[in-house]
Amino acid sequence: MTSSTQTIPEHRDLPRHIAVIMDGNGRWAKKRLLPRVAGHKKGLEVLEALTAICSRLGVDYLTVFAFSTENWRRPQEEVGFLMGLFLQSLQKRVKKLHKNGLRLKIIGDRSRFAPSIVAGIEAAEALTANNTGLTLTIAADYGGRWDILQAANQALATGVKVLDEAALAPYLALSEAPEPDLFIRTGGETRISNFLLWQLAYTELYFTPVLWPDFDEAALMHAVHSFQTRERRFGRTSEQLPIHLQRP
Ligand code: IPE
Ligand code: IPE
Ligand code: MG
Repeated sequence: MTSSTQTIPEHRDLPRHIAVIMDGNGRWAKKRLLPRVAGHKKGLEVLEALTAICSRLGVDYLTVFAFSTENWRRPQEEVGFLMGLFLQSLQKRVKKLHKNGLRLKIIGDRSRFAPSIVAGIEAAEALTANNTGLTLTIAADYGGRWDILQAANQALATGVKVLDEAALAPYLALSEAPEPDLFIRTGGETRISNFLLWQLAYTELYFTPVLWPDFDEAALMHAVHSFQTRERRFGRTSEQLPIHLQRP
């Protein structure tokens, strides 16, 4: 897919691809004197609702960070709960996605997952592979550095001697999708936390203190409206842009 450092992407008012770091589940639960895992449960419901809203709006790709390569460092109990929740939703919630014509993809390193999870991932992807609606990509055991390295290693294995963007691109985790137009991080932190390092090169970044379990349609529209005020120059000057894309 088109690279923003090679060609200038087409302009759209509505982001075609939104990438989200769903952060703040633990703090949401803590505020309510609930165990952290209650925040993860609620967070999953919010993801389901947001996916439906994005699909209705006409967003083509929604990519969400569910579990990072660094999240294995969490207490075993929390990791175990998250894995259980992941498996359960692969088995149950995917049917609804399929019914609504959505496509599900999982990106990340599958080698550390239990065989039941890997089987669940493969079945869910196969079930929804031919759907033409919104593509929901869940990043699980995903890290931006892992992605770049695995792509580089795959490219080198083909016998390529010098890597360039074209050689690397087909092996990157989101190779079929356009680069994200809008990045949203909930939960108040203003960092990327090893999410899509390569693909966010020219993405518009939006940070909000809203905790993920509280992120609703109004909060999403706030992010989209912020996106619509941005002047996307891709290296050019403001004066070089068509007048309707220039922002005061
Ligand atoms: C994000 O919420 C979900 C995952 C990382 C799985 P957190 O669990 O990081 O919530 P906070 O940041 O502790 O509030
Ligand atoms: C980022 O959230 C990863 C996910 C949302 C899955 P974290 O809560 O793990 O991020 P850091 O470690 O605080 O930056
Ligand atoms: Mg967090």
